[in-house]
Amino acid sequence: MRRFALTVLGLAALAPAALAQGRFPPDSFTNLKVLPKNIEPRALINTMRGFALGLGVRCTYCHVGREGAPLDSLNFASDDKRTKRVARVMLQMVMHVNDEHLAEVPDRPTPHIVVRCATCHRGLPRPRLLDDTLGLVLADSGLDAAARTYRALRERYYGSGAYDFRDLTLVDMAQNEARAGRVDNGIGLLRLGAEFSPASGQIPFLLGELYRQKGDTAQALASYRAALSKDSTLVFARRRIAEISGATSQPPRP
Ligand code: HEC
Ligand code: HEC
Repeated sequence: MRRFALTVLGLAALAPAALAQGRFPPDSFTNLKVLPKNIEPRALINTMRGFALGLGVRCTYCHVGREGAPLDSLNFASDDKRTKRVARVMLQMVMHVNDEHLAEVPDRPTPHIVVRCATCHRGLPRPRLLDDTLGLVLADSGLDAAARTYRALRERYYGSGAYDFRDLTLVDMAQNEARAGRVDNGIGLLRLGAEFSPASGQIPFLLGELYRQKGDTAQALASYRAALSKDSTLVFARRRIAEISGATSQPPRP
């Protein structure tokens, strides 16, 4: 009967191989603890695709088997990988957020926004934000390592939405470092930012501020001038130049 149907559909040539292999997707699943046990195979596979895309990983990130091997050779039911067990907790969390918490949003606008894996993960297995990631490297291994990390992440993820590569991220970090008394880190982060945003006037202005804080008048002056050359409306830069020039070219007032 089945053969006949396949022949009618013109799929006879595919039939022997398809029948010989373990089927993927299987007709039923043996180890579902969160998803409905009777979930349609299509729906399950779409859910799994959402996991993989949301985290920027392949099936083998959570399932036992060799990367690149045919899907029917993976042991999907096994819970050996920690990541699969974490994913279950995440799945429960997401269901809870959507069903319980968000249901309580007052006057919730429609259509509702549904939280998915990608909402937090943005294509990363560990959804740490860029400033937090760089902050950890900075604290552990210093400025050069943080700059290397920034370059590598930018090279790999720019445009993907995984990280916020706008100036703001480095500028904010630089200001926090300077406020915490680590002015050299601040300067390094701003120089890195200037490299990737050569048109920015704000970054050289802030660099000027940090050099000034350090007492490096020559570098401060050069930075304020650079800022003005990029953006002639930066009145604060003009004022600082006047202050510095005034202080160096005029005799002190009585
Ligand atoms: C981020 C981790 C993760 C990724 C990536 C992932 N899965 Fe899963 N998968 C799970 C979890 C968790 C379950 C169990 C869900 C439950 O208990 O309700 C599961 C269950 C399954 C099952 C059912 C197994 C059974 O018999 O109980 C299949 C089949 C499956 N996944 C296929 C895939 C495929 C195909 C991919 C790649 C497109 C994939 N998964 C990617 C986490 C993942
Ligand atoms: C509310 C934000 C949020 C959502 C939504 C979310 N996650 Fe996560 N996920 C996290 C955070 C934060 C971590 C890191 C936790 C830690 O280890 O500190 C994480 C970690 C993980 C990890 C472990 C990564 C590793 O290598 O340690 C997996 C796997 C994972 N999430 C899967 C999922 C899946 C699958 C979904 C969708 C069902 C999902 N997450 C939805 C925030 C989220």
